[in-house]
Amino acid sequence: MSKSFISLSVPCICGNEWKYIKECIDTEWVSSAGKYVDKFENDICKFTGSKYAVACVNGTAGLQIALQLAGVKSTDEVIVPTLTFIAPINAVRYLGAEPVFMDCDDYMNIDVKKTEEFCSKECQITNKGLKNKKSGKYVKAIMPVHIFGNPCDMEGVMKIAQKYNLKVIEDATESLGSYYTKGKYKNKHTGTIGDIGVYSFNGNKIVTTGGGGMILTNNKNISDKARYLTTQAKDDSVRYIHNEIGYNFRLTNLQAAMGVAQLENLEKFIKIKKKNYELYKKELKNVKGIEMLGIPNGTTPNYWFYSLIVEKKQYGMDREKLMQKLNEKNIQARPVWYLNHKQKPYNKNQSYKIEKAQWFWEKILNIPCSSNLTAKEVKKVVTEIKLLQENV
Ligand SMILES: Cc1ncc(COP(=O)(O)O)c(C=O)c1O
Repeated sequence: MSKSFISLSVPCICGNEWKYIKECIDTEWVSSAGKYVDKFENDICKFTGSKYAVACVNGTAGLQIALQLAGVKSTDEVIVPTLTFIAPINAVRYLGAEPVFMDCDDYMNIDVKKTEEFCSKECQITNKGLKNKKSGKYVKAIMPVHIFGNPCDMEGVMKIAQKYNLKVIEDATESLGSYYTKGKYKNKHTGTIGDIGVYSFNGNKIVTTGGGGMILTNNKNISDKARYLTTQAKDDSVRYIHNEIGYNFRLTNLQAAMGVAQLENLEKFIKIKKKNYELYKKELKNVKGIEMLGIPNGTTPNYWFYSLIVEKKQYGMDREKLMQKLNEKNIQARPVWYLNHKQKPYNKNQSYKIEKAQWFWEKILNIPCSSNLTAKEVKKVVTEIKLLQENV
């Protein structure tokens, strides 16, 4: 890639990755067992404060296992945000269950007020669980997604879960390093509050193993079962006895070695990302019609992705046009995901008062945010955004 091209989000592989991976190859511990798998799990526990962590092949597989362990069955429904990457929604369907789509709040995270309203008005509490009056199915769980690293209102989510006896699966795939600084969950990391949380180490994530995931829980039974299911549900590893259907979902030692090295630099990555977020914010402050998405009160995010809200009337061109123009200038920019309640496999599913998500979908533009993005590159992006407005 030419140096003048500014990517949206590329990994920063600048630490001990090569050294640790080489050690795996030299010692021939390359598969799904080995010291780095254990170390990566332990390091994640230490960093996040989670009691248990089970490494797995990717975040999507982690979410699938998490939903299964939460007891989600084919007769159930799960409340999910419509504004998210499609992976958590697909994970619900892998279990034969159905997603019910919820609107988002001012930070693009699941709208807690509307979720409560949906549970109280559209459902009834029965002795078998929370029954959706329209579908006749039972709502088993809520799956908040900490979008772009901004922590969700977990106090609100957990209150709803307790009131209606729902399980909470935190899709924390984008938010490794994000935590709360106030309230009931002060100092708690995203992914460690619900029944189960999941991280992703996909190539574009703040810590990458090429592909990978981690299932977090404070419950030993869940952790043991996650380990069991992700290793083909092996009950006897000598005689190969399997009493359940399992999966080949374990992370390899090679990938875990990379994860350990990446994790050593996580604090540094967050520092750079925070600095660049603040620089963008300062430099774009006086550009009419352009605003950086904010940070929820009482949280410290990992600043994974930067989102611009583009108001066509004030800026002079819409998000689509700005994206195209930036791309022409060798600056990669991308709109937020298409809303899931409109995606072909899900457009017949129930959705609840989707308004804000639609508003964001029309206006959000993600701009370069890599951990190795320089101040000079940030300034180049800002200069182009300003020049484009001047020349509308
Ligand atoms: C919100 C969200 N959920 C789930 C996933 C799935 O993670 P993975 O790619 O590791 O399967 C991703 C990212 O890829 C994501 O952004």
